[in-house]
Amino acid sequence: MDVRHHFEEHAEHYAERVAPFFAITYEYLARWSTGLPSPARVLDVACGDGRVAAVLAAQRHQVIACDRSAPLLERAAGPRIRLLHADAHALPLRKGCVDAVVCNLGVQFFARPVVALREMGRVVVSGGPIVVTVPEKPSVRPQAPHAIVAQLNEAGLRMCDQLSLSVSVRVMDVTTLVAVWKVEMSTLRELAEGSESDLVELAQTLLDQDDGSITLPLKFSAYHCVAGHS
Ligand SMILES: C[S@@+](CC[C@H](N)C(=O)[O-])C[C@H]1O[C@@H](n2cnc3c(N)ncnc32)[C@H](O)[C@@H]1O
Repeated sequence: MDVRHHFEEHAEHYAERVAPFFAITYEYLARWSTGLPSPARVLDVACGDGRVAAVLAAQRHQVIACDRSAPLLERAAGPRIRLLHADAHALPLRKGCVDAVVCNLGVQFFARPVVALREMGRVVVSGGPIVVTVPEKPSVRPQAPHAIVAQLNEAGLRMCDQLSLSVSVRVMDVTTLVAVWKVEMSTLRELAEGSESDLVELAQTLLDQDDGSITLPLKFSAYHCVAGHS
């Protein structure tokens, strides 16, 4: 299944029905950003409709909100937010031009994560913080280290800390369930192999079995890194 165009095609749906399920990550990043020097220049990579960017801007930071989906990006507009319609693999920004970088639930969609992570390391000032969040496979113990750990390393980023964020959400309709799965696709390889109609059919079956709603355990990790320029 190709989820690359999912966000372009479903901007309104994503913004209003799906993104609220990821509130735990927005709250976490809101706390993280209070520790930045104020005002900081912060790049939000794969910003979607700008939920993280809005929090940063409300804290008086100067934000560059970057996404390749124009319909989502235009929803991110606001005071102290510069919109950048660009691909994370080739950021049209100078080396060391931002103080911090955040990428919330974006890396799992990148075709070449190492390239995009290296770009984040290039545009942040030397020693500047980079925080990347990704979905984790829920309820599986022991867990293999997430692929991102190796990717961060390969991209020349030094990991300083990792935090887990867990929440249960109740989903009540097929479209939202399929959309949440798509954000989690990196944890659901077996579903990623299926077609759109397979996913819809599976979602409908699960909802029918469970009285019209299903509770999903969502788990995310936040990886804190720094980049050092050579
Ligand atoms: C799950 S959404 C997360 C959006 C936002 N960070 C949030 O927390 O709500 C994933 C986003 O990644 C964007 N995206 C995917 N591939 C991208 C790429 N190569 N360059 C820039 N943005 C990309 C999509 O357009 C989408 O907005």
